[in-house]
Amino acid sequence: MSEHSDENDGDASDTSRRTFMKAAGVATTASAVGAGTGAAAADDDDDDGDEDGRDDRVEALLDDLTLEQKVGQMTQVAVGSFDPEPDGSNVPDSFGVDTVGEYFSELGVGSILSGGAAPPSFDAQTVVEGVNALQEYNVEQSDHGIPFLYGVDATHGNGLLEGATVFPQRMNMGATRNPALVEEAERHTSDSTASMGAHWTFAPTTDLQRDPRWGRFFEGISEDPKLEGDFSRARTRGLEDDDRLTSCVKHFAAYSIPNNGNDRAPASTSLRDLRTNVLPPYREALKAEPGTVMVNSGAVNGKPAHASHWLLTRLLRDHYGFEGLVVSDYDDLHRLVTNHDYVPDFRAGTREAINAGVDMYMIGNGGSAPGPVQFVETVVSLVEDGEIPEERIDEAVRNVLELKVDLGLFEAPTVDESRIGGVLGGARETSEEMARQSLVLLENAEETLPLSGDESVLLAGPGVDGDGNNTRALMQHGGWTLGWQGPSNGGPYPRQRLLSDELEARVGSLTHVPTYYDNSTWWAGQGTGENQQSDENGDFAFTDEQESAMRSAAPDADVVVLVLGEGSHNEGFGDRDELVLDESQQRLVDVVAEETDGETPVVGVVLAGSPRGSAETYDELDALLFAGQPGSDGGAAIAEALVGEYNPSGKLAFSWPRNPGTPVGTTPVQYYRYPPTSTGATDNTPLYRFGHGLSYTDFEYGEPSLSASGVDPSETDEVTLNVDVTNVGDRAGDHVVEVFDTQSYGSVLQPLRRLLGYDRVSLEPGETATVDLSLDLAALAVVPGDLLGLAPKVVEAGDYELTVGDDGPTTTLTVDSTGSTDDHDRFPVGGGPGKGHGPGGNGKGGNGKGREGDGDGDDEPDMDDVLDLLREVTGSS
Ligand code: BGC
Repeated sequence: MSEHSDENDGDASDTSRRTFMKAAGVATTASAVGAGTGAAAADDDDDDGDEDGRDDRVEALLDDLTLEQKVGQMTQVAVGSFDPEPDGSNVPDSFGVDTVGEYFSELGVGSILSGGAAPPSFDAQTVVEGVNALQEYNVEQSDHGIPFLYGVDATHGNGLLEGATVFPQRMNMGATRNPALVEEAERHTSDSTASMGAHWTFAPTTDLQRDPRWGRFFEGISEDPKLEGDFSRARTRGLEDDDRLTSCVKHFAAYSIPNNGNDRAPASTSLRDLRTNVLPPYREALKAEPGTVMVNSGAVNGKPAHASHWLLTRLLRDHYGFEGLVVSDYDDLHRLVTNHDYVPDFRAGTREAINAGVDMYMIGNGGSAPGPVQFVETVVSLVEDGEIPEERIDEAVRNVLELKVDLGLFEAPTVDESRIGGVLGGARETSEEMARQSLVLLENAEETLPLSGDESVLLAGPGVDGDGNNTRALMQHGGWTLGWQGPSNGGPYPRQRLLSDELEARVGSLTHVPTYYDNSTWWAGQGTGENQQSDENGDFAFTDEQESAMRSAAPDADVVVLVLGEGSHNEGFGDRDELVLDESQQRLVDVVAEETDGETPVVGVVLAGSPRGSAETYDELDALLFAGQPGSDGGAAIAEALVGEYNPSGKLAFSWPRNPGTPVGTTPVQYYRYPPTSTGATDNTPLYRFGHGLSYTDFEYGEPSLSASGVDPSETDEVTLNVDVTNVGDRAGDHVVEVFDTQSYGSVLQPLRRLLGYDRVSLEPGETATVDLSLDLAALAVVPGDLLGLAPKVVEAGDYELTVGDDGPTTTLTVDSTGSTDDHDRFPVGGGPGKGHGPGGNGKGGNGKGREGDGDGDDEPDMDDVLDLLREVTGSS
C-alpha cells in the first residue's frame, strides 16, 4: 500500500504548510528568473551532422554528466516543502540529505513530485511561487543547472488547489459516453496544472473497471475496452494540450484486475484476456503520444510489472513504439522486496526494474523505504559491477532529458506566476455539462421523478452538506481531490456547488435533517496492521436525535430525498469486501419507510465511487439516481435532474452486481464476459447491465441498416450503421445510442455482448434524427487458436448479430473473410532482452511491417523466430 503523506493528516500537513509559507515569503518571482537563466541551453535538433536523430545538446549533457549525476536525473523524489533551506530539516531522516535544497545541490535529482494531490500548500499562488523559487535554486545550485520536472496527480481536473474546478471522476466520465466533452475538460486541466508550475500529470488512468471491491474502481472509465480506450486517447490528447505539460498513461499494464480485489495484488489472467480486453485501452492512449508511462504496481501472471522486460521493453517500446519516459510507481522498486517478496533486497529489485525498462524511480516519503541517496548509490554500484549496462542508464537519462527539452524547460525553467489566477475555478460550463451527462437514472417507479418543483422536500443522508462542520460535500468529489483520500473534514475545498443550496432554490420548501459522516477514519489505523478503513469507506452514524428529527419531519414532507453512498477513498484504503450501504444508512431508509407508510415518494441519490446498495435498500425507494462522484458542479446537476430542468441521459459504464452484500462469486460481472451467466443456485446476471440508464422521455428506434452488408477486416476497420431515433415522449432529452454484437460464433468463446459504437443525440419531443454510427470492427477481434493465446488477433469470418440499444432492433453484419484490422497486432514472442525491435506499433518504432512469424523484427520470418518462439513457449532460455 502506498504511504503518501496526506494533507488529511493534520499535524504533518500543518508543519509542511507552515514551513512552506515561510519560504514563499522570501521567494523571488518567476519574472526575476527569466528564460533560460543558468540552465544548460538545449535545442531539439540533431544539428551536428551525425544524423543519429538525437538532440545534440542532450547528447552533450550526457557526455558531461558523471554516472552519479546521470542516476540523479533518473530520480524523482516527493517533496513536502518547496523550501530549499529551512532552519530545521524538511526531508525524511532516512533520506541521506538535510534539506530539500540538497536534493539538487548534492544529488542533482531530475524530478520532484507532490503525490496524492497534496502539494505543500493548497493555495495556488503559494504553490506557483514556491515551485519557481525552488526551480531557481535548482538551476543555480546544481552542477549542470538542469531544470527539474514537477509531477502531480491532476486526475479529474487540477484537484490540488483550493477553489479549483474538479471534474466528475473517471467513472462518471465514462457514463457520459462523450469523449469530446471530456477532452475539452482535460484541456482545462492541462492549462491549470501547467499554470500552477507543474510539468507532468500522472493521468490518464487507463486501467479497465473490472472489480468493484478494488479501492480504485472509481478511477476507471469503464469495464468496456473500447470505451476505456476511446476516452483514454481523448484524455491524453487533452492533457497534452499545453506545451508545458505532459501526461502519463498508467498503470501499465493490467493493474485493475487484482485476483482478490485488493490494491497492488497480483493479476492472474490469460494472454487471450490481456490481448483482447486489458491491453487495447493502453494502446489507444499511446496513440495520442503521451510523454510518459507509469508502471503497474502489481504483478501479472506471476511477474511483477516493474521487473517485466517483456512488458516494459518488448511490448511497450518495441511493439507499441513508445519513445517517452517510463516512471515507476511510488516506492515500487522497494515494493519488489516488501510487497511482492520477489527479491531479497533493494539492490536486486533496482537491478531488475532498470534492466526491465524503468527510466525513473518515484521515491515517496520515507519510512522504511530507501531514499534518493541510497537509490543513486545502488545504481552506481550495479553499473560498476556490470549488472546494469551503462547504455541502459544513458537510454533512461536520454528519455528524461528529451522530455525536458520537449517541454521547453531549458529555455524557460519557471512559469509566469500571474497566469494561474485567471484559470483557477474555470471551465465551469464544461464541468456542469459533464456532471449532468454523467448522472444515471437507475429506477423511476411510476414517474416519481421529476419533481414538480412545488413540493416540500425533506432532505437527509450523509451525502448532504452542512451539519455545522461542512464535511458532507466530500462525497461528491472522491479521492485525488485536495488530498489523497479526498478533501479533509472541514476543508479546504475545490470550487463546489452543494445540493442543499441548489435544491432549495428549485423547490417549494426544503427541510434538511443532517446525519453523520466522517472522512478521516482511513488514516487512523495507518501502520497498525489493523483494518484501516471500513467497508463503507468512511464513518457513518444516524444518532437518536437525528432519528427523532427525521421521524417528526417525515410525515409533513411531500417527497423525501435521501443522499446515500460511501466516503471518498483511494488505493488500498478503499478496498472493501462488501458493497452494501453502511447499516446507519439502511436504518435511515427504514425509518423513512416507517414514517411515510408508502404514501410519500422516496428518492435515493447515490454518491459513490462504486455500485453501492442492495435490494433491501432499493426496495424501499421509488426512484434511484446514481450520481457517482460528480465533482464541483455535482450538486447543481443533481438538483436540475431531480426537478426535470435536466433530463438524465447517462449510461452505466460498468455492470452493477446483483448481490452487493455478498460479492464473492458475483463479481466481476463485466457484461462482455464469456457465457454462462448463471450456474446452479446463483444468479450471476448483473442487477443493472452496462449501458443501463433511464430518461424522463421514451425513445424508439427504426430499422437499422449497414453501409456494407459484407466486410473484409483487412481492408477496412469500420462500418457505418444507420438508424432513426425518435423521441416519442413529451420532454426533450439526450439519448445515447449504442450498438452491440449480441450473437456470434468463432473458433474460441465469444463474449455475451460487445460494444461496437455509440453516439449521443439531443431530441425535442416528437423529433426524429438519423444517426450514423461508426462501428469499430477491432472490437470484434479475438485471439484465435488453442489455449496459449499467442496467434495474431483477427476478426473471424461469419455472421454477427448487431443489436441497437439494450434490446432494440437487430441486423446482421457479415464478415466475408478472416482478417486483422491492425497489421501491427502480432504479438512479440521470442527474442530476449536486447534483441532489438519487433514489429512497429504506431510507426515510430520497429520496422512497421509486422510480417507474420517475424518475432524478432529483423524482417525475416526465419528459423531464429521459430527457435525464439520455442524458447518462449517452453520457458527455456
Ligand atoms: C499511485 C499512482 C500515483 C502516485 C503518485 C501511487 O501510489 O499508484 O497512481 O500517481 O502514487 O501520487
